Amino acid sequence: MTFSARPTVTLIEGDGIGPEIAAATLEVIAAAGGTIDWDRQLAGQTAADKVGDPLPAATVASLTAHQVALKGPLGTPIGAGFRSVNVALRQQFDLYANVRPVRTIAGVPSRYTGVDIVLVRENTEDLYAGVEHYVDPRRTAAESIAIITRYGSERIIVYAFEYARRHGRKKVTLVHKANILKLSNGLFLDTGREIAKRYPDITFDDMIVDATAMKLVVAPERFDVIVTMNLFGDILSDLTAGLVGGLGVAPAANLGAAPEGGGAGCALFEAVHGTAPDIVGKGIANPTGLMLSAAMLLDHVGQGAAAARMRAAIDVALADATTRTRDLGGQADTRGYTDAVIRAIGKA
Ligand SMILES: NC(=O)c1ccc[n+]([C@@H]2O[C@H](COP(=O)([O-])OP(=O)(O)OC[C@H]3O[C@@H](n4cnc5c(N)ncnc54)[C@H](O)[C@@H]3O)[C@@H](O)[C@H]2O)c1
Repeated sequence: MTFSARPTVTLIEGDGIGPEIAAATLEVIAAAGGTIDWDRQLAGQTAADKVGDPLPAATVASLTAHQVALKGPLGTPIGAGFRSVNVALRQQFDLYANVRPVRTIAGVPSRYTGVDIVLVRENTEDLYAGVEHYVDPRRTAAESIAIITRYGSERIIVYAFEYARRHGRKKVTLVHKANILKLSNGLFLDTGREIAKRYPDITFDDMIVDATAMKLVVAPERFDVIVTMNLFGDILSDLTAGLVGGLGVAPAANLGAAPEGGGAGCALFEAVHGTAPDIVGKGIANPTGLMLSAAMLLDHVGQGAAAARMRAAIDVALADATTRTRDLGGQADTRGYTDAVIRAIGKA
C-alpha cells in the first residue's frame, strides 16, 4: 500500500502518562519532518469515563478508515463487561504480527552491548486464543487450549522472513517447544522449515524456548530475527526489552492481515509499557518507547528519512545523562528530554 505524502493517522493518546508522552512524540515527529494529519480518538479508561465505552465506535471507524494508528498505553476499566481494549483491537483488526525491535542504546543502563534483535510474535493463536473452561462443575480443574494452525503459522513465519529481507537481516530463529508439544509446536516448526526453503538468502535455525531464554541472557548478540508463537513471544519480548534497558525504550508494531481485494492491512504502533499511574502529571515520563514506535510508523507510511532523523536524535539525547530521563538514570524531565531530541534533530 502506498500512502499519501501527508497521510491521516488515528491518534489514541491513551490513559495515565499517555497524553504527556504523546504530546512529546508529536513535537519530535514534526521537528524530524514527519508530515501527518492526526485524527484524535479515545480509548481505554478515558473513553469509558467520557463516553461510557472503552472502545467507542468512532475510534474503530477512524482506524478502519485510516488503517494506521499511534497508541499510548491504555488502562482496562475494572468491572463486569469490560474486556482489554488492546485485545479487542487485536481481534477486531486481525493484528496477527507483533513486532518488537530492541537494540543497545549508548547511555541507557544495561548489562549488555551489541544487542540488535527483532522479535516477531504471533498475536492471535496459541494459549491466548481464549479457549478455556472449567473441567468439572465444582471448578476444581480448568484447561486452556493452545490452538496452532498452519494458516496462522505460515503467515507469521512468512512475515518474519519478509521482514528480514526488507531490513537486510541475515538470520531467522524459530522458537518452539516441539520436543514436548509435538503436535501444536511441531506444526509450527514444520511450517517454518518448509517456508525457510523459499528464503535461501537468509539463515534459518530453530531453538527450544527454554534454551532460548538462557542463550538470550548469556549471548544475546547471536540472535537476529526471532519468530515465535503467542505465549513464548509474550514472555521473550519483555526479556529482550530487558537486555537493552527495559520497557521504557521498547517500541512495538501490531500488523494486520491484508484485506481481501488488496491493501496493506491495519497497523497499530504503541509503546509497550503501561499507564504509569504513579508518575502521572509529574512531567517526568519517558516518551522514548512511543517515539521509537512513531519512528516505526513513519517507516510504514513511507517517511523513512524522518524516522531515521528521529532515531539518530533519540540516540544523542539518551547518550547524555543530563538529557536522559530519570527512569534511565538521567536528570531530565519529559520537557528537557524532548527539547534535547529536537535540538539534536536541528544539528543533524
Ligand atoms: N500497552 C498497554 O496499554 C499496557 C501495557 C501494560 C500495562 N498497561 C496498564 O497500565 C496500568 C499500570 O500498569 P503497571 O503499573 O503494571 O505497569 P507500568 O508500565 O504502567 O508501570 C510500571 C513502572 O514503570 C514505570 N514506567 C512505565 N512507563 C514509564 C515511562 N514511560 N516513563 C517512566 N516510567 C515509566 C512506572 O512509573 C512504574 O513505576 C494498568 O492498568 C495496566 O493494565 C497497559
